[in-house]
Amino acid sequence: MKKKFYITTPIYYPSAEAHIGHAYCTTICDILARYKRMRGVETYFLTGTDEHGEKIQKNAALKGVTPQEFVDEIAGKFQNLWKAMKISNDDFIRTTQDRHVKVVQDVFTKLYNNDDIYLGKYEGWYCTPCESFWTDTQVGEEHLCPDCGRPVHKASEEAYFFKTNKYLPELLKIMDENPKFILPLNRKNEMMNTFIKPGLNDLCVSRTSFDWGIQIRENPKHIIYVWMDALTNYISALGYDSDDESKFKKFWEDPDCEIVHIVGADISRFHVIYWPMFLMGLGLRVPDRVFVHGLLDLNGEKMSKSRGNVVSPLPLIDRYGVDTVRWYLAREMTFGSDGRFSPELFVDRINMDLANNFGNLVNRTTSMINKYFEGKVPAVTELNERDKALKLATETALRAYETYFDDLKVTEALVEVTELLNKANKYIEDSTPWTLSKEGRVDELANVMALLTNVIIVATKMISPVLVETSEKVFDLFHLSKEQRTYDLNYEFCPFTGNEVTKATALFPRLDAETETEYIHSLAKQ
Ligand code: MSP
Repeated sequence: MKKKFYITTPIYYPSAEAHIGHAYCTTICDILARYKRMRGVETYFLTGTDEHGEKIQKNAALKGVTPQEFVDEIAGKFQNLWKAMKISNDDFIRTTQDRHVKVVQDVFTKLYNNDDIYLGKYEGWYCTPCESFWTDTQVGEEHLCPDCGRPVHKASEEAYFFKTNKYLPELLKIMDENPKFILPLNRKNEMMNTFIKPGLNDLCVSRTSFDWGIQIRENPKHIIYVWMDALTNYISALGYDSDDESKFKKFWEDPDCEIVHIVGADISRFHVIYWPMFLMGLGLRVPDRVFVHGLLDLNGEKMSKSRGNVVSPLPLIDRYGVDTVRWYLAREMTFGSDGRFSPELFVDRINMDLANNFGNLVNRTTSMINKYFEGKVPAVTELNERDKALKLATETALRAYETYFDDLKVTEALVEVTELLNKANKYIEDSTPWTLSKEGRVDELANVMALLTNVIIVATKMISPVLVETSEKVFDLFHLSKEQRTYDLNYEFCPFTGNEVTKATALFPRLDAETETEYIHSLAKQ
């Protein structure tokens, strides 16, 4: 594992307010960042907003405000949402900030002087909402945008182009030599078959048809096309090409920093193909991995503001707590595959994993320790076969969890935790502590309580990058010292003898399926 970790979300368009889809990607990045920090890896986590482009200019005009006023308001709402979701980003970059604008202009100049960019004429099918030009084949006979399915129109303008084929051999070499450059692995074939094999066009990197963007210094009637502007955020935020390049040196140039971009399937080609090429043109290192996550739909329909079916995470957080929403997002959809948000799935998932499994285990254990051992964790003595099996299951789960996380398999790592918790609940049923107590088998009863405490603390540490509030609550219930709260794979077995234990009051109350699904359905309709 590298010593440092730089992780980024896409920078979101503040053309409308954030919905649960944006929250999904940001939450996963946050979980990865928190996991790395917990492992002692120096981590830098970036998110932000992509504030230029025709769509934003149009939306601002519709609202009767300037584009800057428009994005200021929505960017503020994004930031508030991330606070409410306990997102631990180290920085929030906005592409209208001076620190970014200057770098984008310099990047353009450098690439132009390097003969990577030339002035030509662009003709093609343009999709305004996606701000993308498409070819005849891509739009098909119906002339629909292959990304969003909306109608496209013919457009032509003088424009600057980036010479993609100049860097294609180098890109293919990187993809070959580093098989984990694009993750999950099947996404690589998709990139090759859809975009690279049919032949790459040079990429249009400027516009003259609207002016809400960063001007090209050498030819001010052009603005820099939104993707070259947007992608540059990953280095401008680190201070590339500024008076203080210390963060850039630390988190980009140092080969001992792992650079990971997490992006949705809708924008993978920009990150996997063009962004590495821009970096090559600038003589900079390319990222280690681009992880392409699937998209989340709502009850089977693509989420979009215009269809009126977006769900904001805020009312969910208000009603169910931030951990519940974070857990649902990370656990329900296998990271890397497409997924679904539905009120029924939400309620089922929360009841199954948090109320019945995790919450129940903590409630039962803390209550039994109070009942049988006056609220103090007893010491372990000789273990029987069942105890040994639970001890082994704990160690095995911990190792598997780390391996999955190191491969960015977030959901799989969390499944390890829920399976371990299931085993612990089953261990209670099999050990029948109530019978051990009745029969006065104190040593055996003590072992059961000590082992359950052990499993709960290990599992809570594993789950803590997701359940940021509850994990602290559980540590408090077991009166853990600061040292006892740290995470260590080679942990000491049952080191909590003598710790006081407070009886839990329902950590995650069971949700009433009918009332809550109805409530969540009403959110999507508003
Ligand atoms: N501004 C560009 C990205 C530039 S990055 C240099 C953009 N913005 S966006 O607001 O449209 O956000 C796209 C990203 O938001 C997706 O790639 C994905 O990470 C996330 N999601 C948006 N809708 C989503 C779902 N319905 N489901 C899951 N993630 C979603 O494209």
